[in-house]
Amino acid sequence: MTVITKSDKPLTITVTGAAGQISYSLLPLLATGKLFGRSQPVNLHLLEIPPAMSALNGVVMELQDLASPLLRNIVQTSDPTVAFRDADVIILVGAFPRRKGMARRDLLSKNVPIFTGHAQIMADVASSDVHILVVGNPANTNAMILSRAAPSIPSRNITALTRLDHNRSCSLVARKCHVTTSKVEGVVMWGNHSATQYPDFTRATAGGKPAIHAMGGEETVASEVIPFIQKRGASVIEARGASSAMSAAQAIIDHLQSWLIGDDRIVSMAVPSDGSYGVKEGVWFSFPVRCLGSGEYEIVTGLEISAFAKPYIDATADELFAEREEAIAISQ
Ligand code: NAD
Ligand code: LMR
Repeated sequence: MTVITKSDKPLTITVTGAAGQISYSLLPLLATGKLFGRSQPVNLHLLEIPPAMSALNGVVMELQDLASPLLRNIVQTSDPTVAFRDADVIILVGAFPRRKGMARRDLLSKNVPIFTGHAQIMADVASSDVHILVVGNPANTNAMILSRAAPSIPSRNITALTRLDHNRSCSLVARKCHVTTSKVEGVVMWGNHSATQYPDFTRATAGGKPAIHAMGGEETVASEVIPFIQKRGASVIEARGASSAMSAAQAIIDHLQSWLIGDDRIVSMAVPSDGSYGVKEGVWFSFPVRCLGSGEYEIVTGLEISAFAKPYIDATADELFAEREEAIAISQ
């Protein structure tokens, strides 16, 4: 991984769905050094579909008006070959949005062709060591489809975002235990970025003390706390009339910083399963991971899975395998 060793040379970051609402919060962070620091220049390659090119032009005007000394070249395009060319980091935010009454299968049937098409182009034109983060939903399954369609890209260079769920859980522990989030450790998100995700507070600590009692004990965690996190995205949509954008953008920065630069803490990332914790290979599953720097990570193994946790982990794995089958059927 060469990403952070190029500091005199701009890194090229491609963002798809660049005129959408997450990107509107994300792009200023990328342009001003919130990801790689204030000495690393960046090029931004921004991809949109043709109907959104006028809006993207406005976003580019605003990016220019940030006057960031780190921001070198900006490319705005509806051509994926141009957008992905020489990309060091690709953030796949662009996806067909879920409309009212749309089943998950319908969402998959819209997004599988997008991610398959993009995959083949990335494999041809991106940097040979490209690192790809999938954000657009269904994020875990989009990552799996992308990897199948681009076998020349190492599967461990493709991850999907569950850091927003992780951050939501850490923040909840901090609020319940009256500490700052910097004092919270041990939260793990397992599985799919969907309502079956399993936010695991078993080992969560606040200021070094177990948090589970302040969270109401196991029964309350099961009946209130876990559903609160599982439904948090839907609650934001209900309240705002649009899905999480500011918090998603921050989670993207957190995820990429941990993954590409390294992190002392254990964090949650959706990565290709290697069979750990009984989750068969073939899906992108959110695990506890240790990020070692330079894009290297390892799944943390050996955590005890209690009788309480097991049905949650099985349910979210089952959902991912069902999505996998549907997505593969659509792609054939
Ligand atoms: P948005 O609708 O505001 O923006 C999406 C943008 O993608 C639009 O501008 C659209 O024109 C563009 N787009 C659509 N198809 C494209 C394609 N083929 N190529 C390039 N661009 C394309 O949506 P948003 O709020 O920014 O959310 C984006 C995605 O992120 C959604 O799928 C949402 O569900 C997902 N999301 C994921 C998480 C997570 O934690 N994984 C959190 C929040 C949102
Ligand atoms: C979120 O978790 O906020 C989003 O994934 C919700 C959504 O459906 O876009």
